[in-house]
Amino acid sequence: MIIVIDFGSQFNQLIARRVRENNVYCQIEPSNISVDKIRDLNPLGIILSGGPSSIYEDNSPSIDKSLFDLGIPILGICYGMHYMVHTLGGKIKKATKREYGFANLTIKDPNPLFKDMDSGFQCWMSHGDSAIQLPPNFVVTASTDNTPIAAIANHDKKFYGLQLHPEVEHSINGSLMIRHFLFDVCNCQKNWSMKSFCDGAISQIKAAVGDKKVIMGLSGGVDSSVAATLIHKAIGKNLFCIFVDNGLLRNNEKENLEKSLTSNLDLNIRFIDAQDKFLTALKQVTDPEKKRKIIGNLFIEVFEAEANKIEGAEFLGQGTLYPDIIESKSAFGGPTSIIKSHHNVGGLPEKMKLKLIEPLQLLFKDEVRKLGAELGINEDLIWRQPFPGPGLAIRIMGEITPSRLDILRAADTILLEEIREAGLYRKLWQSFAVLLPIKSVGVMGDKRTFANCIAIRAVTSNDAMTADWAKLPHDLLGKISNRIINEAENINRVVFDITSKPPGTIEWE
Ligand code: XMP
Repeated sequence: MIIVIDFGSQFNQLIARRVRENNVYCQIEPSNISVDKIRDLNPLGIILSGGPSSIYEDNSPSIDKSLFDLGIPILGICYGMHYMVHTLGGKIKKATKREYGFANLTIKDPNPLFKDMDSGFQCWMSHGDSAIQLPPNFVVTASTDNTPIAAIANHDKKFYGLQLHPEVEHSINGSLMIRHFLFDVCNCQKNWSMKSFCDGAISQIKAAVGDKKVIMGLSGGVDSSVAATLIHKAIGKNLFCIFVDNGLLRNNEKENLEKSLTSNLDLNIRFIDAQDKFLTALKQVTDPEKKRKIIGNLFIEVFEAEANKIEGAEFLGQGTLYPDIIESKSAFGGPTSIIKSHHNVGGLPEKMKLKLIEPLQLLFKDEVRKLGAELGINEDLIWRQPFPGPGLAIRIMGEITPSRLDILRAADTILLEEIREAGLYRKLWQSFAVLLPIKSVGVMGDKRTFANCIAIRAVTSNDAMTADWAKLPHDLLGKISNRIINEAENINRVVFDITSKPPGTIEWE
């Protein structure tokens, strides 16, 4: 395994992804990790990440210096390199200006990291401070015009420093540098695969759960579906899944899930029809936050009532992913952490007193998809775009009524058919229809109409934190508009949302 020490870089997860892409397991650890714990984890290499701090600032992140005595190869990136230089006796100069963007790197010294590369190429820099004096036994291995010490090495100790960011796509040869660090410097083996993860996770779940029961809420999305399928592989009929139909789903949502997980994979799912409950509670509610609160509370109530019928359940399964764990900064590690005591994730109440089982907590989204394929889940479910918990309620501006739900469902179905037909479904983070709270005048077949307006929302994104409106081809937009107005009832106008996030959000409410 490789450990990435988190010095606060926005690219930490990307570094871990780059390592895992090479079938080498990689884990991100906080910088306050003890050297004893690192020794226990027994990594073949350590990557010190970048970070926004300057090495001379008060409270800049640091790690126990005996890290450098472990005899483990270390790669310091940006701040990680500054930290290595500073700690081992070199000097860092505080920036007068930042170097940000592309720079031409010239290789000065043969170096395992730069094996098989041209003597100069483009890389991506983002830094203020720079190294100005090397620690003893280090050499400069590459420079740029603005940064004479752009890469360093202590060949004996296998310590390497890069001022550039090898993890970002724009750094030519960046992935190759990481690969060389893994295989030529650290002697890693390619043994991290979804198959090995899957086998390991199944035996861990078996060992932790034994013959006890696990309850799990399914949303219809990829994370909970994959987590449930994995748990099911481990404990079979002792997994009890609950799917709450809140009446705010898209056409065929429930049926598709049923087909994928019940018919094909034999999961035990209880489908709870709570449509009336939700729609009654939402009557005449127009405020977005009120809608969300009502739906959230009611979900807990319905889920809990059903869960209470399953006697003797001790565990609650959840599809929590690695980014959620890193973001919540919870320190964790090792197989035992796959089970945690219940901490109110997803708003489920403390009083359920269930222990959490989160088998995807080491995975990124694309790895979850690979795992889903490994488990035999069908492609449609694996590649489903995210759908919010409050469902269509936050895509109907104003009051939610059965007839307004029907209008939106019809428009949304057409939109998704066309997006799929155009081969864009997987390229878009999300694409959906929104029903606006206004009517407008139109003319259809020589007759005046006064009907509803649909907005099309389509975005590209990597993580939903930021998003760009998708530049859908005009022909496609025309076809979608035409079909919605002709085929769905009561709609005479379609508009296209061209707002990015920020300042907009992806959902309209
Ligand atoms: P926004 O609208 O905040 O959405 O840009 C970001 C991402 O989160 C999804 N979303 C939700 N998902 N429960 C969920 O499970 C929710 O209440 C919720 N609200 C927004 C949204 O679809 C987008 O992918």
